Amino acid sequence: MGADDVQLPFAMITTADPPIHTALRARLLKDMAPPRLRKMRSQVEAIVEECIAALPESGSIDLYDSFVQYVPTRVLYAVIGIPEPRWNEVEKWADVIVATLPEPAHELPEFGALTSYLAQLIDDRRARPHERHDDVLDNLCFAAPNEREMSTPELIAHLLQLLGAATDTTRALIVNCLFRLLNHREQWESVLDDRSKLTNAIEESLRFDSPAQFMVRTVVQSVSVGSCPIEPDKKVYLNIQSANHDEERWGEDSMTYRADRPNASGHLAFGRGIHACIGAPLARIEAWVAVNALLDKYPNMTLEPDAKWIKCDGALVRRPQMLPVLLTKAGTR
Ligand code: HEM
Repeated sequence: MGADDVQLPFAMITTADPPIHTALRARLLKDMAPPRLRKMRSQVEAIVEECIAALPESGSIDLYDSFVQYVPTRVLYAVIGIPEPRWNEVEKWADVIVATLPEPAHELPEFGALTSYLAQLIDDRRARPHERHDDVLDNLCFAAPNEREMSTPELIAHLLQLLGAATDTTRALIVNCLFRLLNHREQWESVLDDRSKLTNAIEESLRFDSPAQFMVRTVVQSVSVGSCPIEPDKKVYLNIQSANHDEERWGEDSMTYRADRPNASGHLAFGRGIHACIGAPLARIEAWVAVNALLDKYPNMTLEPDAKWIKCDGALVRRPQMLPVLLTKAGTR
């Protein structure tokens, strides 16, 4: 609030209005339409399996650091088409940049390294127009007859925006859901015994701990919200978390995590309207597969007794800084 809008030489999907937004969104949806994302389930399972295999059989660990943070980045890199041998490096650069947002990151060495790498990747793809791939990079590099060619800087900007939109938010969803279930042991046990309850537990997590806390809009015409008049050109924060805790909507127990809350999926965690989250189906799959795999492998996992929900740095994303747990071998309950 109070800062000037960042001026970019091209429109970004989150800040553009129709018709530019419509064309950009349609382009991204070619790779990210819900049926296409749902087909990624087996790939997500393979990534989760690999991340879980790296965990010890038992002992105290920070599950955020050692598991949760890796799942959404690897899934997104697969969707984009970043070659697997470079995933660790890209993740290190991208994490530094995303942690700096909304401050400008372009002077950081990590920004230079990541954008140079992406430019190289784009050049390599464009140099082989006959080797087509089924991924976002291919779609943005090669325009269909009715589509616009994109310059390399524009393409990089869209990729950076995806890195910002898809990773920390989904990490937050997975870690919040685990924290709340483990903190209410009877709810962990209930989901453990009946996995059909996991879908609603994830929706309730999105409501209770909304990963993206707010969105920003520029007002285009005079409007009143409640008794508050707002003039054109003013910026407003739309507080997603507040809406998702609104007791008039959710009842007296709106501040309680209830995995069996009826209609939990009526939350606003993915936004509403023309800018509603494109990646929602993928985030839901990732959370389901990751939590389900942990329930399978560590049914007796507990939160460390001194574990506290302390918010991570940064205003936008809501998640605990860490998830200290005690892993116990399955079967030794
Ligand atoms: C739990 C995880 C996620 C949450 C809570 C979340 C939340 C949101 C919200 C609230 C918006 C709307 C912003 C606005 O209206 O200004 C949004 C937009 C967007 N999200 Fe997500 N997101 C998540 C995961 C993802 C993933 C996994 C992807 C991509 C693979 C993604 C890609 C996008 C894109 C491209 C937009 C812009 C859509 C547009 O402006 O038309 N998000 N997200």
